[in-house]
Amino acid sequence: MLFRAASRTSTFEQTEVPMSRLLFLAVCGALLISQIASRSFADQAASPNPKQAPPDTKSATTVKTASPDAKSTPATKTTQKSLYERLGGEKAISAVADDFVGRMTADSKVNFTRKGTPKEWKATPENLTTLKKHLTQYICHATGGPQKYEGKDIKIVHKGMEITDAEFDAAAADLSASLDKLKVPKTEHDELMKIVGTTRADIVEKKLGPPATTPAPIPPMTTSKK
Ligand code: HEM
Repeated sequence: MLFRAASRTSTFEQTEVPMSRLLFLAVCGALLISQIASRSFADQAASPNPKQAPPDTKSATTVKTASPDAKSTPATKTTQKSLYERLGGEKAISAVADDFVGRMTADSKVNFTRKGTPKEWKATPENLTTLKKHLTQYICHATGGPQKYEGKDIKIVHKGMEITDAEFDAAAADLSASLDKLKVPKTEHDELMKIVGTTRADIVEKKLGPPATTPAPIPPMTTSKK
């Protein structure tokens, strides 16, 4: 079968094209168009819009850092600091000793100069300087600091001062007031008070108990005469 494709008014020579050839050309054309179309979509997907912002790697890292995995933190990082360090070291402890000595020496309940006892002490500037220096060394050393205590043995130095429990309690209250004044946190305050409390046995000589009473004489056994 032949297809008459030319118009009668055409100036070109009339051409007769077989139907099978036309069909073949149509199929080829359709295939070509579909290939071009699919190619242009693939190209679009591979090269995104250049105006689109790149992924924010910085903020992603920040998120990771802001919420670290607690379980992965090594246990060694949580090592406890010594009381000496937590108190603020020698400078802070020296400030405590200064305030404490000032309070104790002015406190009549403590009777620091030991007036009326066999071991009176003079609060001269030299004695006070030595006392503050040794007290600072003592506290530094007792709380874990590297300082060496250069004073006398605590039991020997207080021997014969006839210090009572009540006087020791008054001195402890003065230390507590110094720690509060210098804004030492409760944990460190209580730890230091505990350490100083252990010196009581070496410092206190006179135990204040109830006044000694002479026991009433036991009445002699009487035998009743019949
Ligand atoms: C009622 C309580 C206390 C009284 C009346 C008292 C009295 C004294 C006196 C008079 C001295 C001077 C001794 C001297 O230089 O010969 C002294 C020294 C000293 N006291 Fe106390 N004290 C008391 C409590 C404490 C406490 C609780 C501590 C513990 C931290 C302490 C630690 C020392 C130290 C380290 C020295 C210096 C020793 C030296 O320089 O060789 N005292 N005390």
